[in-house]
Amino acid sequence: FVKKDLVGRKILVTAGPTREPIDPVRYISNYSSGKMGYALAKAARDRGAEVILISGPTSIDPPIGVMFERVSTAEQMRDKVLQYFDEVDAVIMSAAVADYRPMNYSNVKIKKDDSEMTIRLSKNPDILKELGDKKGRQVLIGFAAETDNIVMNASKKIKEKNLDMIVINDVTQPGAGFEVDTNIVKIITKDGDIKDFPLMNKYDLSHAILDLAANLMVR
Ligand code: C5P
Repeated sequence: FVKKDLVGRKILVTAGPTREPIDPVRYISNYSSGKMGYALAKAARDRGAEVILISGPTSIDPPIGVMFERVSTAEQMRDKVLQYFDEVDAVIMSAAVADYRPMNYSNVKIKKDDSEMTIRLSKNPDILKELGDKKGRQVLIGFAAETDNIVMNASKKIKEKNLDMIVINDVTQPGAGFEVDTNIVKIITKDGDIKDFPLMNKYDLSHAILDLAANLMVR
């Protein structure tokens, strides 16, 4: 039995990595599988929310009953997120957005020679920070993968990005973070409350995250 406490809510979830192209056959990306974001989208759908899932490249089938948008680069993800931002009650930014992209894209495959090569990178837009600056009624939830000074770094991010809460993956622990079906997280809310969660599957954890989010959404 799943409670239907999110009926009438519109929730935007981002998932997966982004891909930043170098040339027609190469890109820079990360190990995000999208599993956490897809689990969140399903859990929110199951509780009656209208869900928009904006996904980078993953190998997971789009969930049924969810509005699905596929993107590739961070800039495309930004454009899609901004397109929907005004109409949603909450944004859960679980995508692993690439922080940098190659400064120059080559229209032809870059040839190798015997010397070393350098790819210059420029900074991608911080989508969540932009949302924090624009934020009205929306509940904003960020994710972070931290290896050290976990609580301090996360608290700093809540302030810098004007978030309501942040879900921190301790990526140093087995069973947490990228690619696996489980996660171990701490959730910090903007009032400084810290909740520690044990090893959980990503769907159950999604419900725990949505419990906290539901409490923050204005009636
Ligand atoms: O600062 P950091 O990358 O650790 O913040 C992680 C959070 O910010 C995640 O929720 C991620 O989706 C979001 N993010 C973003 N745009 C970026 C980088 C991260 O929205 N360019």
